[in-house]
Amino acid sequence: MKGIILAGGSGTRLSPSTDSINKHLLAVFDKPMIYYPLSVLMLGGIKEIMIISTPEDKPRFEELLGDGSALGISLQYGEQVKPNGIPEALTLSEQFLGRDAVTLILADNIFYGQGFTTLLRNAIKNHRHATVFGYRVKDASRFGVVEFDHNQKVISLQEKPEDPRSDFAVTGLYIYDNKSVQLAKKLKPSARGELEITDLNKEYLKRGQLDVELLGRGFAWMDAGTHESLFEASEFVKITQQRQGFKLACLEEIAYYLGYISRETLYEKGKSMEKNDYGQYLLEIANRKHTQQYWDSIDRNPMLGLVD
Ligand code: G1P
Repeated sequence: MKGIILAGGSGTRLSPSTDSINKHLLAVFDKPMIYYPLSVLMLGGIKEIMIISTPEDKPRFEELLGDGSALGISLQYGEQVKPNGIPEALTLSEQFLGRDAVTLILADNIFYGQGFTTLLRNAIKNHRHATVFGYRVKDASRFGVVEFDHNQKVISLQEKPEDPRSDFAVTGLYIYDNKSVQLAKKLKPSARGELEITDLNKEYLKRGQLDVELLGRGFAWMDAGTHESLFEASEFVKITQQRQGFKLACLEEIAYYLGYISRETLYEKGKSMEKNDYGQYLLEIANRKHTQQYWDSIDRNPMLGLVD
């Protein structure tokens, strides 16, 4: 299983904040937006990841995250020249994917909730062809919408419908088998001139190969695509972090608890940023006395919130 983060787009909805910087590099409270989707793929156990951005912005992502070795993962970078739609991320990654399946995540999507790591790891392990994640929202017409029956069998999909058939949005996290690349190549642009991920999912639905996983009511899913939602996401992160003292999407912490980097590496990184809160947090983890007992088994790791 490989991972793709799509961090392209023109970001017009956040202009002027995004006139000279890619939306996904803006801060969601105390770290760049892209940390959040990257943390999701890492928690899912995915170590080979392609980050796709515009040609102008690619160097900035490379500067921020490098080849991933500092986090014990492998990062590659791809270019989407024009915002031609989400499915293009798959065709652009054809070589990178080879014959592997893929988990694709949109770089402005933030997921947070107890048990998420287990849910995601199970979805990855058990996936057949295509899996999407449904989440109840008040304003489903802003999103892809999934309708399903009592057995959680998908009945229909709609993209930003005026009159949604259900309250369940399709989040920006998708698991696909390898044929998604060829299916994506056959898609035609929609009325808004983009290839639509909903059309790819409809293709899987037609074949009887689309599964939906539901994220329950205790779960937080946000997309930070507008000023309002970006601000709300920042507030959510701030309040959640302040209350428990755990950071969300702290990549070095995740890498450490997954056993990808050593305590020394974590300590060094913390030392290099010790004047700020993020660095102090890393130092605090590196200095914890009783860490070892927590990471014998990541599925029982209370520090990562993996206990269901
Ligand atoms: C895209 C997808 C939509 C999905 C959403 C999730 O919307 O087209 O189906 O629900 O991401 O963030 P867009 O970002 O283009 O508004």
